[in-house]
Amino acid sequence: MLPAVISPPRIAPSILAADFARLGEEVQRVEPYVDLLHIDVMDGHFVPNLTVGIPVITSLRKVTALTFDCHLMMTNPDSYFRPLRGAGADLVSVHVEVFPEPTRVAAQAREEGLLFGLALNPPTPFEAVEPFLELCDLLVVMSVHPGFGAQTFIEATLDKVERARKFIDSHGLRTDIEIDGGIGLDNVARVRAAGVDVFVAGNAVFGAPDPVSAVQAMRGALET
Ligand code: DX5
Ligand code: ZN
Repeated sequence: MLPAVISPPRIAPSILAADFARLGEEVQRVEPYVDLLHIDVMDGHFVPNLTVGIPVITSLRKVTALTFDCHLMMTNPDSYFRPLRGAGADLVSVHVEVFPEPTRVAAQAREEGLLFGLALNPPTPFEAVEPFLELCDLLVVMSVHPGFGAQTFIEATLDKVERARKFIDSHGLRTDIEIDGGIGLDNVARVRAAGVDVFVAGNAVFGAPDPVSAVQAMRGALET
């Protein structure tokens, strides 16, 4: 379970859509209004894109107290748990497509003092993560194909959210459900209704003319 400072729904802006030349300022501007910071680490292998790594996370840690939710789109994320923790990461999510049997990698993350999340891509069925949900603080349901921001939300992923919600509640688990990709003011309320706890939003926050108003509007939509 994520730190219970603020109960769901939580908003996690993704820095992928921020201006990397002004990253610290961009994060500090939204910090009072958001709950987590979503950091997409891409390796150019698991996904066809490269983003940020340890040095950027280290620098960000100096300018914000937000919980760092690190989404590791990598084929060997476990090699980086220790340096990520050292840099200030709080939670690491790895992909079930990389670790179809994630028991050991979950234990490794915990040994390093990290919370553990499991992510699944749009084509991956819920059954792939179901047996392992009890190991997870977070289930990351990808609602776009990973690799890039500002893509269109894939509606079919809501089925998976509903199934995950039912499973988590009926088994008394404390796993939070995060949705990642294509979230905005137009869909946030119905995605909440399907059972999501944490909303990642990149383009809808940092791509907006006023990121703070964008977060507040989203919060308003979640609360109605
Ligand atoms: C995609 C990333 C997402 C991305 C979301 O691979 O995992 O976290 O930043 O961006 P938006 O909200 O713009 O779809
Ligand atoms: Zn992500």
